[in-house]
Amino acid sequence: MRPRRFISGNPLTGRIRVPGDKSISHRSLMFGALAVGESRVTGLLEGEDVIATADALRAMGAKIERRQNADAVEWVIHGVGVGGLQQPENAVDMGNSGTAVRLLMGLVASHPVEVRFVGDASLSSRPMGRVITPLSETGAQFEASEGGRLPLTLRGICPAIPITYRLPVASAQVKSAVLLAGLNTAGITKVIEPVPTRDHTERMLKGFGADLQVEEVDGERIISLRGEAELSPQIIDVPGDPSSAAFFVVAALIVPGSEITIENVGLNPTRAGLFEVLRKMGGQIVEENRREVGGEPVADLRIRHSPLKGITVDPAIVPSMVDEFPALFVAAAFAEGTTIATGLEELRVKESDRLAVMAEALAHIGANVEEQGDGITITGTAGEYLPGAEGSIKTHLDHRIAMSMAIAGLGSQSGVEIDDTSPIGTSFPDFEQLLDQLTSAD
Ligand code: S3P
Repeated sequence: MRPRRFISGNPLTGRIRVPGDKSISHRSLMFGALAVGESRVTGLLEGEDVIATADALRAMGAKIERRQNADAVEWVIHGVGVGGLQQPENAVDMGNSGTAVRLLMGLVASHPVEVRFVGDASLSSRPMGRVITPLSETGAQFEASEGGRLPLTLRGICPAIPITYRLPVASAQVKSAVLLAGLNTAGITKVIEPVPTRDHTERMLKGFGADLQVEEVDGERIISLRGEAELSPQIIDVPGDPSSAAFFVVAALIVPGSEITIENVGLNPTRAGLFEVLRKMGGQIVEENRREVGGEPVADLRIRHSPLKGITVDPAIVPSMVDEFPALFVAAAFAEGTTIATGLEELRVKESDRLAVMAEALAHIGANVEEQGDGITITGTAGEYLPGAEGSIKTHLDHRIAMSMAIAGLGSQSGVEIDDTSPIGTSFPDFEQLLDQLTSAD
C-alpha cells in the first residue's frame, strides 16, 4: 500500500504529455502479435495493464521487445500470424485489466489451445458472462468460477463458427472479443451495435489489412469481418490517452489560477464525450494544432480555470465518456448548481463499483452527493474548496478512483488521503510526477 495525501496548493501551470492510449496500446500489441512480420509501436502505454497483455502474448508465442532508441522507446512485435497462437505453459495473469482479458478471450476462442486466465481481486470480481455467452456460440468452451468470473479456463476451437451477435450492453470489449474471435474463423462474423462504442478495433483492424465493413442501418452500426484474415505488420504511433488527460483537465478547471496545455491528446469522437460535457458546463478547453496520429484525430488541449455550472448529462453520451465519470463527478462537486447523470449502470462493473465508491468518497470529503440505482446527483460548491477529511479514501484497486480523488484533494481545505496510490500504475505510471510538475511553483 502506498498512501498519499493530496491538498490545495499552487495552481497547475505548464505543458505536459500524457502517456499513450490504453485501448490502442492493448490492440497494437494484440494485432501486431497476429500479423505476419515485424510491427513497430511508439508511444505505447507502459502501464501494468498493457504489460500484462504483452506478457500473455509472449506466453502464446509472439516475440515482443522493448527498444530504447536515441530519441524514443519503440516496441517491436514479431507476430505469429492469425491462427498461430500457441498453448501457454502456465496460467496467464491479466492483473487488473478487463480489456486485456476480454479481448484475449476473443483471440484465443478460435485457436485450438486451452488457456487459464487469472487476475487480481478486482478483475476476479468482474462479470465475464458478457463475453462467455457470445464466444460459446462460436464453439469455444469455458469453465468459469461462480457467477461467470475469473479464474476461468477457455478451450478454444478451430474451426470455429462465425456468429452474428447483437450487443446487449454498450461494450467495446464485448464487440472486440467477438470480432477478434472472427479473425481466425472462416466466413463472416458480424456484430450489431445499437449504441456506438469506441471504435479502435474497427479502425485498427482495417489498418492491419483485415476485410472489415461498417454500415449504419436504422441507427445501428453493423460491423462485418471476413475471416480467416491476414494481417500485415504496421508502424503505429499511439496518441495520448484522453482518459488520462481527463484528470488534469478537471484539475486545471477547478483550481483557481491554473492554465495548462496537454499535448497530443486523442480526440476520437467515441472517446471525447467528457470534453464536450465540460465545455457545456463552462469549462475553457481549447483545441490547438488538430492533426492525425496513428489514424486517430489528435490535438493539444489548452485548459484554463473556469467557473463551472451544473448540467444534466444526456445518457446518449455515456459510452463516449464511460471511463471519465469519476473525473466528471469531481468537476460537478465544484460547479454552481446541480449535475444529474443517469444511464450509468455500467459504472458498477468497472475496476470497482464507481457509482457507489465515488458517491461515498465525495460525500466523505464534504460534497453534496446522492447515489441512485443507475445514476448520481451532485450539487456543487460554486467554486469553493471542499472541506476535505481525516481518514483515507478506499480506492478498491481502481486507478481511476485514486486519480479522481487525488484531483479532488487539490480543491480541498484539509486534504484528501488516498489509501493506496499503487493502482495508478495500471494506466498512468507517471501521474503523480506530472501532477507534482504542474503544481510546482516555478
Ligand atoms: C475499453 C472499453 C471500455 C472501457 C475500458 C476500455 C476498450 O469497457 O471501460 O476501459 O479498450 O475496449 P467496456 O467495453 O466494458 O465498456
